[in-house]
Amino acid sequence: MAAALVLLLAVLAPGAARADQVPLLAWSSRSKLWPPATIGSEGHVVTEPQLQALLGPALDQGPHNVLLFLQEKLSVEDFTAYGGVYGNKPDSAFPNLEGALSDAGSALVLPAVAGEAAGAVPLLLREHLGAGPLHVDPPTLRQLRLNASVPALLLVRLPYATGSSLMAPKEVLTGNDEVIGQVLSALKEEDVPYMALLTAPRPSRVLREVLGTVPGPLGRQLLETGPEPVYPPLQFPSGAFPLLLFWARNLSVARDGVWRDLTDATFGSHATVNLSRSSWGPTEARLVLSYKEVFNSSLTITSHMTNKWFPVSGRNWSSLEWVEMVEGGAAAPVTFNASGVSVPALYSWRCGLLGTMGLLTPRTRPDPAAAHWQLLLHDIQLQAFNVTGRRFSYASDCAGFFSAPVWMGLLPGALLAAVLAYGLHMLLGLRAMDRFDDPKGPSIAVPQTE
Ligand SMILES: *[C@@H]1O[C@H](CO)[C@@H](O)[C@H](O)[C@H]1NC(C)=O
Ligand SMILES: *[C@@H]1O[C@H](CO)[C@@H](O)[C@H](O)[C@H]1NC(C)=O
Ligand SMILES: *[C@@H]1O[C@H](CO)[C@@H](O)[C@H](O)[C@H]1NC(C)=O
Ligand SMILES: *[C@@H]1O[C@H](CO)[C@@H](O)[C@H](O)[C@H]1NC(C)=O
Ligand SMILES: *[C@@H]1O[C@H](CO)[C@@H](O)[C@H](O)[C@H]1NC(C)=O
Ligand SMILES: *[C@@H]1O[C@H](CO)[C@@H](O)[C@H](O)[C@H]1NC(C)=O
Ligand SMILES: *[C@@H]1O[C@H](CO)[C@@H](O)[C@H](O)[C@H]1NC(C)=O
Repeated sequence: MAAALVLLLAVLAPGAARADQVPLLAWSSRSKLWPPATIGSEGHVVTEPQLQALLGPALDQGPHNVLLFLQEKLSVEDFTAYGGVYGNKPDSAFPNLEGALSDAGSALVLPAVAGEAAGAVPLLLREHLGAGPLHVDPPTLRQLRLNASVPALLLVRLPYATGSSLMAPKEVLTGNDEVIGQVLSALKEEDVPYMALLTAPRPSRVLREVLGTVPGPLGRQLLETGPEPVYPPLQFPSGAFPLLLFWARNLSVARDGVWRDLTDATFGSHATVNLSRSSWGPTEARLVLSYKEVFNSSLTITSHMTNKWFPVSGRNWSSLEWVEMVEGGAAAPVTFNASGVSVPALYSWRCGLLGTMGLLTPRTRPDPAAAHWQLLLHDIQLQAFNVTGRRFSYASDCAGFFSAPVWMGLLPGALLAAVLAYGLHMLLGLRAMDRFDDPKGPSIAVPQTE
């Protein structure tokens, strides 16, 4: 029954095949292979030429020993759902991968790469290295003699689901992470510089999350890369029961091209931001960040969020509507409309980049005042409704497979599938009558036991 439902879901889920995008992680023992701030996600899907432009130079200049972990399937949701968060790191399915990324000299994390671009990665590596792929597993790798000046392409295939049985994805991913750990430690013993990539030719689908509610009591977020965030999310109101949570790795504003990094003023124990003008209601919330002195004057950044019921998807959606910046007391506000920043209200919204270069656009166009201002948020996570504690709920990534439009389509699809599956179940449950009722013949004796 459950299998039938899953099967139907797979057939019916609209958008599932369309949103053919997979994450790609690359890291190397060599530093400075990629510029620090490479393509932000912002709903952007990396195309094949862009991927070639990112990987090509690194392959030509970087280490010649390249390790490709090719998982059968992978979606950014696997990281969102099974990666650890601040407090529950031990719960993560990717301890070795996270370790490798944080120890790496340089790393490249692309949440969304077009499926065909990711599928062409083996060929791309082969062309740049001039070496064919060698399938390896941890034991054979230990016997292999690698030489830093001889190019080698080592391919490690990782499963996603075993056969037809629906082994919990988390178990499979944990197993894969162990393989990654073993391979990397074997490589460390050899002491040759290397570059490693993890991707998949196809996205996986974390079906469990489609019908269920928010998994687990603890918040989840995208796999952490780079230094561990040292500060907790900003909360409003402060105290044990916040209504609104906000976190970003970097919050910066620019006036006339001069940048001010407000991260330290906003998060952590030395924060000086004043939140007292923020407000919260069940359908509307405002996060007002007031800074005493930025560009020689006070600055207020207001984010306006709404919680609305959408009959189409049968659920409430939380959206960021607009962001306003006011300098000083009297100056006219500069307003930016936000587009596409929405998420089922029970979830938090996460994005690699939110800013005036992308999802935020001036409310009136042309707006000469807005042209002076820029706002940039790196790795933002935001939840304004249905906050259950001091941690974020499950995060929906802006570049994710289950981005808003897909969710919109998926839910009615899932409902339909459930109804169909129920109907099928009822049909299969019917039993044919043994004999036809013949009014002239002897009446049917109904056996008491069958
Ligand atoms: C690595 O390969 C180069 C060129 O083929 C060779 O000269 C060198 O001795 C090799 N190094 C080791 C440690 O095998
Ligand atoms: C934050 O972003 C701004 C603007 O891109 C940059 O100037 C600043 O160095 C960044 N801060 C950190 C800590 O990376
Ligand atoms: C925050 O701002 C409000 C009014 O804008 C003010 O009354 C309050 O004293 C400020 N709090 C701090 C800690 O500065
Ligand atoms: C801030 O004020 C100082 C001194 O009054 C001045 O030198 C500086 O240019 C001002 N900075 C900006 C961004 O206006
Ligand atoms: C859903 O949104 C409506 C407003 O459109 C609001 O009245 C209601 O409280 C919301 N429900 C939930 C569960 O957030
Ligand atoms: C921004 O949003 C406001 C209110 O929703 C709307 O009136 C305005 O036309 C929008 N501006 C742009 C440029 O889309
Ligand atoms: C979500 O929040 C709304 C508004 O605060 C509340 O009415 C509703 O019960 C919450 N739903 C869940 C599932 O927590």
